[in-house]
Amino acid sequence: MSPAVPWGRVMVASGCGGTGRELAPYADLEGLDFVTRSITLDPRAGGPSPRVAETPSGLVHAVGHQNPGLEHFLATELPWLVRAGARVHVSIVGGAIGEYAELARRLSRAPGVAGLEVNLGATDQAGEGLFEVREPYHAASVVAAVRREFPADRPVLAKLRPDLSRAVEGARAVHDAGASAVVLGDAVPAALPDGRPAGLSGPAITPVALRCVHEVVARLPEVAVVGGGGVDGPATARAFLAAGAVAVQVGAALLHDPTTVARIRADLEAQDPHDHSGRTDR
Ligand SMILES: Cc1cc2nc3c(=O)[nH]c(=O)nc-3n(C[C@H](O)[C@H](O)[C@H](O)COP(=O)(O)O)c2cc1C
Repeated sequence: MSPAVPWGRVMVASGCGGTGRELAPYADLEGLDFVTRSITLDPRAGGPSPRVAETPSGLVHAVGHQNPGLEHFLATELPWLVRAGARVHVSIVGGAIGEYAELARRLSRAPGVAGLEVNLGATDQAGEGLFEVREPYHAASVVAAVRREFPADRPVLAKLRPDLSRAVEGARAVHDAGASAVVLGDAVPAALPDGRPAGLSGPAITPVALRCVHEVVARLPEVAVVGGGGVDGPATARAFLAAGAVAVQVGAALLHDPTTVARIRADLEAQDPHDHSGRTDR
């Protein structure tokens, strides 16, 4: 039995739902768990073009965490998402533990923030200067610092790379540090055709992420795991949920088909009409 969590079973993955406005024509944002693109304290222009490359089975990307910075986010993007009825999980990323803590402190006072997602794996070179957490010990230190600054009754998700060699160790470390759930996972480290460091997302990484979810659920049944990586419709969503994930995140698929979230929600609700699967109690 997976641990119960206070959010829905379908979430928009960080960086893949835009600011929300781009997704709104295709998905009902009311009650939708929306993870924002990763927000830094100061604005970031992002990396040089080209930033993405298609492969036969996934998208290679090096966006470099382009974002307007916390102040602008609080003034514009957050209020819009809250008004649209989304349940907003703000993804945060920083260059040092203190930056994560500062982001958490300021977001704890912002109206409408349902929870945080701690981005622990900036995979591309354009994200230079951001904390790259390879060691579970460091990941746990970041999560503990965030947890200290953010109200205990609101969730803090810890997002890890789907790296099988460290998945169980990493999940245990961030869980013990106070994470409400572990998100497995992020993009897999890759390279753009010109060799620049990047992340690989999409169907190519589903089996890798699925294996990580299976291992963590089997070894750490007390840990809530959110699965992600190539979720592109009801079948992949169900595979992660069957593996024991409490929820799934939909990422790159939204760039091809922005109705993906709605389709998965409809499928899960059809399976169990009383479950209101994709939706949250508000
Ligand atoms: C264009 C793009 C931008 C992304 N931006 C972020 C980001 O800002 N923060 C983050 O934690 N993950 C980011 N991701 C990773 C996704 O949230 C997701 O974890 C990853 O792509 C794996 O899921 P998928 O295969 O469904 O896309 C991004 C992915 C893509 C494709």
